[in-house]
Amino acid sequence: MTVINAPSLANCSYLDMERQTAQLVEGGCDWFHIDIMDGHYVPNLCFPIKFIRELKDRYPSVETDVHLMVTNPMDYLEALKENGADWVSFHLDATSFSRRAIDQIHGLGMKAGVVLNPCQPVETVEPVAEFVDYVVLMTVEPGYAGQKFMRDSLGRLSRLVKLRAAQKNRFLISIDGGVDKPGAAECARLGAEIYVTGIYTVFNQPEGIVQACRNFKKLICDPEIQ
Ligand code: DX5
Ligand code: ZN
Repeated sequence: MTVINAPSLANCSYLDMERQTAQLVEGGCDWFHIDIMDGHYVPNLCFPIKFIRELKDRYPSVETDVHLMVTNPMDYLEALKENGADWVSFHLDATSFSRRAIDQIHGLGMKAGVVLNPCQPVETVEPVAEFVDYVVLMTVEPGYAGQKFMRDSLGRLSRLVKLRAAQKNRFLISIDGGVDKPGAAECARLGAEIYVTGIYTVFNQPEGIVQACRNFKKLICDPEIQ
């Protein structure tokens, strides 16, 4: 069973970023989830691309998972590669040329993912399903950290898992937005692999970030323990 803990760094305190990212790594996080927003695709801004470089230089073994919430995602790909991005996902409705974007991401040597918003039919991924390394299922509307997990996402996840099996595709499934402990446990049962963790799982927990990361892995891998 593949379980990837990908904490969303948008939940870190900016003033305490160095300490909190170190704690995530000590707690055994697998990836860093880095939200990039342009103020157009979503009405918000988040990290600069340079931030990825700093993370990669400090923690080369932690995979950088860049979630592009931008219009024209292709404009950013070369800079992302230069700055140490490993996995790059973009929203299917942010470009008319998803195949080209996927090819360009692969051509630069990165893993490619597509993102589905809560209102997009899961079947929207069908034409690209065989070409992507991962599909990100948004479980909130994109643009802000700290929102509530949409429980109806579970049915959507279940349909995505079925679509993957029916088409014999190999993409990983990532769950992003408001992931809480009961939601994550359900997603694990249904077959998700990547968990974008946030304020309901690894941040703001009484046990602190290091232990919360460890507890999260236990919860997903062995729900009986909790
Ligand atoms: C929402 C972002 C998420 C978010 C996750 O637009 O894509 O990555 O930061 O953090 P939580 O789960 O705390 O909302
Ligand atoms: Zn995200």
